[in-house]
Amino acid sequence: MRRRFVAGNWKMHGSLASNQRLLKDVAVGAAKVSGVDMAVFVPFPYLSQAQTLLAGSSVSLGAQNVCEFHQGAYTGEVSAQMLQDFACHYVLVGHSERRAFFGESDAQIAGKFCVAVSCGLQPIICVGETLAQRESGQTESIVSAQLDAIIQRAGIAAFESATIAYEPVWAIGTGKTASPAQAQRVHEAIRAQLASFDSDLSERVKILYGGSVKPENSAELFSMPDIDGGLIGGASLVADDFLAICLEASR
Ligand code: 13P
Repeated sequence: MRRRFVAGNWKMHGSLASNQRLLKDVAVGAAKVSGVDMAVFVPFPYLSQAQTLLAGSSVSLGAQNVCEFHQGAYTGEVSAQMLQDFACHYVLVGHSERRAFFGESDAQIAGKFCVAVSCGLQPIICVGETLAQRESGQTESIVSAQLDAIIQRAGIAAFESATIAYEPVWAIGTGKTASPAQAQRVHEAIRAQLASFDSDLSERVKILYGGSVKPENSAELFSMPDIDGGLIGGASLVADDFLAICLEASR
C-alpha cells in the first residue's frame, strides 16, 4: 500500500510576511492530518524561513529547481548540497513551466534528477502533455518519452527514491482538471512503463496528479487506484484549502 503524498508548489509567490502566516497555519493544521506525507516547495530565498517555521512539524520542505552540476562557476544556480543545508528533502525536476519558459531539455532534466538522487534529495519528476498534444492523441507517447529520458540516464533503480507527478499542461492554473478517469489512464500507463523495467518497484513508486486540484475535486481524484496524491499549485497558497486536500488524502 502506497502512502499518499500531498505537495504544495508555491511557484513564484510569497513574501516574508505572508509566508509567516501560511507556514504557521500549515504546520499547525498538519498535526490533524495522519497517514499522509506532506511537503511545501517554496522559492529559494524563503527556504531558511520555511525550515525554521516547519521545524518540529510533519511537513517536509522542498525546492522548485536544482542545478544539474554539483558546484562551480554557474552564476545564478543553486546546488543540491545547498538545498540540503536547509533540510530540503525533495526537489521538483522538470516542471512544465521550467520546460516551457526556461527551455529545460529532457537531457538537462535527467541531469538534475541524477544530481538530486546522488545527493540524497528525493526528486519529483514532472511529466505532462500540452493541449495540442492531447488533442492529436499523443498524450501517452509524450509522457512516456519524458519519463524514458530519465530512466535511460538514471536507471530504473533510481526511482526507488523518486516520485512522479503527472501534470497535464492544459490543466495547470487553468481551472480545468483532468477528469479522474483521464488522469487514471495516464497514471496507469506510467506505472506500466515502470513495470516493464521492474514490476515490484512500479508498485512502490508514488505517482501524483497535478493541475487545478482543489478541495472540491481532490477526493474523486485520490479515489483512483494509481493516483497517490497531488502536486498542488494555487490551492497550496491558501492554508485551509491545502489542509483540506491533505485531509481528503488521509481518508
Ligand atoms: P495549479 O494547481 O495552480 O493548477 O498548479 C499545478 C502545478 O503546476 C503544480 O506544480
